[in-house]
Amino acid sequence: NKEIISLKEVKTFRSRSEEFFPIDWYKQMHRNTPVHFDEGTNTWHVFKYNHVKEVLTNYDVFSTEGPRTTIPVGANNKEGTLPDHVNIMVDPPMHRKRRSLLSAAFTPRSLKDWEPRIQHIATQLIDTIPENSTVDIVQALAAPFPGMVIAELFGVPIHDQSQFKHWVDILFQPFDKSNQKEIEREKQKAAKEYYQYLYPIVVQKRLNPSDDIISDLTSAEVDGETFTDDEIVRVSMLLLGAGVETTSHALANTFYSLLYDDPFLYEELRNDVELIPQAVEEMLRYRFQISKRERTVKKDNDLLGTPLKKGDVVVAWMSAANMDEEVFTDPFTLNIHRANNKKHLTFGKGPHFCLGAPLARLELTLALKTFLQRFSRIEAGATFDLEKNLTDSAPGQSLTSLPLKVYR
Ligand code: HEM
Repeated sequence: NKEIISLKEVKTFRSRSEEFFPIDWYKQMHRNTPVHFDEGTNTWHVFKYNHVKEVLTNYDVFSTEGPRTTIPVGANNKEGTLPDHVNIMVDPPMHRKRRSLLSAAFTPRSLKDWEPRIQHIATQLIDTIPENSTVDIVQALAAPFPGMVIAELFGVPIHDQSQFKHWVDILFQPFDKSNQKEIEREKQKAAKEYYQYLYPIVVQKRLNPSDDIISDLTSAEVDGETFTDDEIVRVSMLLLGAGVETTSHALANTFYSLLYDDPFLYEELRNDVELIPQAVEEMLRYRFQISKRERTVKKDNDLLGTPLKKGDVVVAWMSAANMDEEVFTDPFTLNIHRANNKKHLTFGKGPHFCLGAPLARLELTLALKTFLQRFSRIEAGATFDLEKNLTDSAPGQSLTSLPLKVYR
């Protein structure tokens, strides 16, 4: 496993709330040290849009293969790691083939077919919210929804979905230096349980395929290469890791934004649901503050205006790039009508651009639309204290709860 770079050592925020929305720090870094070297962790950090884009797209120079990482995923045992020859955290040209194999599960056609199934889950969860009440939207919707969707799309039995979330919570919990041994033990246990749970399902689906991601993966083939049952189980763990917490975070923050960034937006969207997709993009630009990725320098270069040496690690802060005044006019204001909000780098850029972005966009759009159509008005919970409702997630601060009053 890779050595973990603790970003907490790069920047110590004064509070959780500040880390949740670190725009003062971004402003300062944009202005003073857009290319910053951190001595403590021995890493470079870049914040400007063009630098971040360069690091993510120029794979001849900035490699995804490297000994260090900012995000701890999976577990250290046999069940918790990807076999080398299906790992997509490699550079092109190798990457292209492995990604094509995996993308068999994410064709535009399957996405269209899945829409009613995703809609059904959104409706089911939103229907349980009582009218004219105060609801914790994290518990009621943002936390369970993406895990339920993935379980449904994997084709596993509906009653096992909460078990899925349990495994995800353990496997992708944040890095904690003081407690690493214990966390690793828990992760290995969860990876083993998950493996033992899913393996027989994969075997079954290869014999009797249905319309789901696991079945699609059993029949995926690129240049004569296919996935074995073992590989499908482990690859599916990667999809859980990449697709559950991220989408939950985006959904929770969307509601936070509707309450606290622009109190008129809810009504505007209700009056014109066609605006929802562009609102989703602006939320991903403005309120998704945990997007960052590391790369390892492959050859000495000066591409960021400062000498970088082979072996150096560069962390690209996509969330900061989304706040770059040279690309987004008035970036520190939420504005769903900005013409270029889809230019955000929240899903990355280049060869590793998020494979699940169309699914994530669809989930966010359907959840928001279903909610808007059901409730005429929302209001912030009177006593909400942001600082007390945040927690460390693998890549940053996430909401643990968000009370809102809903009116029919
Ligand atoms: C890659 C973000 C949802 C599957 C990525 C990357 C980012 C990202 C930034 C690029 C990593 C890099 O350049 O090193 C997000 C965000 C999401 C989301 C913000 C939700 C709001 C999903 C979902 C899935 C998914 C729902 C699938 C179930 C993947 C996969 C990759 C990836 C497989 C690796 C692609 C590759 O290396 O070629 N995601 N993601 N993501 N994402 Fe997502």
